[in-house]
Amino acid sequence: MTALFTPFKLKDIRLRNRIAIPPMCQYMAQDGYVNDWHLAHYTSLARGGAGLVIVEATGVSPEGRITPNCAGLWEDGQVEGMARIAQAIKAAGAVPGIQLGHAGRKASANRPWEGDDHIPQGNPRGWQTLAPSAIAFGAGLPNVPKAMTLADIARVKSDFVAAAKRARDAGFEWLELHFAHGYLAQSFFSTHSNQRTDAYGGNAQNRGRFLLETLAAVREVWPENLPLTARFGVIEYDGRDEQTLTESIDLIKQMRTNGLDLLNVSVNFVIPDTTIPWGTPAFLAPIAARVSREAGLPVASSWGMDDPQVAERVIADKQLDLVMIGRAMLANPHYPYVLAQALGADRPDWVLPTPYAHWLERYRGAGKGTR
Ligand SMILES: Cc1cc2nc3c(=O)[nH]c(=O)nc-3n(C[C@H](O)[C@H](O)[C@H](O)COP(=O)(O)O)c2cc1C
Repeated sequence: MTALFTPFKLKDIRLRNRIAIPPMCQYMAQDGYVNDWHLAHYTSLARGGAGLVIVEATGVSPEGRITPNCAGLWEDGQVEGMARIAQAIKAAGAVPGIQLGHAGRKASANRPWEGDDHIPQGNPRGWQTLAPSAIAFGAGLPNVPKAMTLADIARVKSDFVAAAKRARDAGFEWLELHFAHGYLAQSFFSTHSNQRTDAYGGNAQNRGRFLLETLAAVREVWPENLPLTARFGVIEYDGRDEQTLTESIDLIKQMRTNGLDLLNVSVNFVIPDTTIPWGTPAFLAPIAARVSREAGLPVASSWGMDDPQVAERVIADKQLDLVMIGRAMLANPHYPYVLAQALGADRPDWVLPTPYAHWLERYRGAGKGTR
């Protein structure tokens, strides 16, 4: 029995194994509306056998998109396309999840393969970005955001709530709030990007207020029996890591009190110049394990965990409850089958759809057959 292929239960939701596909933007939507690209993409990922498939960062408002081609759930018309995706993921035996986010000062950017940089200010394709303070990210994202007023903060929180209702109505069963990667929520918590002097800036309690309030408001509309999770960076790799980690864990404890069921532990990405140990496989696993231990909640994580032995070890050693595997799934949506074979899992055909399993596993060794 492998640890990776044991089921995982959270609230009323049961995942068939510990493999989750993290949100991965496709940058293929028009006006926030998903289309056939997304349907085929998510259907094939779900057929690949993962327990959980999380749909990409989806903007809670037009200005919350990373690029003009990001998905959205800011209007009711966007629900139908998302509902088809949720239904397809479920029909393939995976749990349909979605990540809701607001890109803050990193919004209004070109697609990664079209520059990955800010659309120049004044260009009609772009828009005015928002952030806790009027401080630019820098590097390829030089546009200076507007410092949010209290009214802006209230509106974005209610945008999260409205989008969460739409995600629920679309049939998603797992919600991930995007509080990571230097986007709006993460930028509230970091002193690099938040220099406010009101109740949303200053000490860690104030910097965490936007996240805690948003989470609590979403919990009111997100069904109690379904997992409410967040992705949050707990480390910047900027030389102040122990302080950031300690403050983050304290905030996560409060998030748990406000109804958080699991944390997807990630990196802050609030500033461009950091020393992230990219070459170390599963470098976030020990950090996620600490978060789980000290904040007292289940954790998932990603970044370089796709090697079969690594994926198995982080689960078997109880560092993570779920392992998120991204790029390897883009290369091969049936990567869970590769993992099952490499680990010698019982009946690896479990992770294949029947029309494939018949030929690849049950029929193996029986020659070419008669067809
Ligand atoms: C194409 C692509 C799009 C991504 N989009 C998102 C996203 O929408 N939200 C997010 O939190 N992370 C996003 N990420 C990061 C992934 O969720 C994941 O953390 C990352 O790919 C590392 O995992 P891996 O080493 O298994 O690929 C994206 C990554 C890729 C490759």
